[in-house]
Amino acid sequence: MITQQTLIIGANSDIAKALALQLIESETTGLILISRDVNAYDLLNRDKNTSHVNTITVKDYQSQSIEQAIEEIATYNHAPITRIYICNGILHNQSIQPEKRIEELTVESFNQVMASNALTPMLWIQQLMPTLTGNSPCKIVVFSARVGSISDNRLGGWYSYRASKAALNMMLKTAAIEIARRNKNIKIIAFHPGTTDTPLSKPFQKNVPANKLFTCDFVASQLLTIVENSSYDQTASYLDWQGKSINW
Ligand SMILES: NC(=O)c1ccc[n+]([C@@H]2O[C@H](COP(=O)([O-])OP(=O)(O)OC[C@H]3O[C@@H](n4cnc5c(N)ncnc54)[C@H](OP(=O)(O)O)[C@@H]3O)[C@@H](O)[C@H]2O)c1
Repeated sequence: MITQQTLIIGANSDIAKALALQLIESETTGLILISRDVNAYDLLNRDKNTSHVNTITVKDYQSQSIEQAIEEIATYNHAPITRIYICNGILHNQSIQPEKRIEELTVESFNQVMASNALTPMLWIQQLMPTLTGNSPCKIVVFSARVGSISDNRLGGWYSYRASKAALNMMLKTAAIEIARRNKNIKIIAFHPGTTDTPLSKPFQKNVPANKLFTCDFVASQLLTIVENSSYDQTASYLDWQGKSINW
């Protein structure tokens, strides 16, 4: 019987897929996978029991699409949502490359990176507020990155990506303060997975030592342990893959 639900948003992220594959084993937890392209999702084609898994395809990550997805979630199951993983984030795509020099900064790419990495997760949290301000406990993990730490910035570069994750961190801290006044049983974690072998890091793996390039399976299992061990302390945490705090 389903007694709780987990949402994975941006479910086509390679780390998200590894997370889903580990979570699918629990038959008491309903899994809701949300992505722009659920069809590309091979998890459901594996030899697994997927009767407790639902998928939602969003057209994009605009407010209206998010609102429709939330309405759809409400139709599935009335078990409380106890875990939310928001995995969205871009570093590069066909039109964007992380900037090495300030001359490479453009309005278009900055706006796109900010929207995907900082605004999208917050729009989900905004729309999920009725869930979060009830009585039920919930842990929310949002994928950040160590490069979003202002105090840790020694190498420079990657203006838009760094700024987007720093902005995300600030908004998560702010949301945690507000939400704590309404529900003491919400935990927000800004998570740094470490350099993980996914399409996002692919072009930048050359100088990463083999023991510092993680598999998605490893990161997913670290994250699940970190989440279980975290407490409802009414504050946002900024944690790496070892569960160690990062200075904001
Ligand atoms: N891999 C690393 O080394 C590393 C290091 C530090 C932090 N991170 C962070 O970890 C998270 C997961 O990354 P990953 O490595 O698993 O990357 P990935 O496999 O490339 O996944 C990309 C993610 O970004 C979403 N996305 C793509 N374009 C988007 C857009 N225009 N608007 C909103 N969302 C968009 C995708 O959502 P759909 O499901 O809709 O496609 C998917 O969730 C990201 O936040 C990333 O910044 C990764």
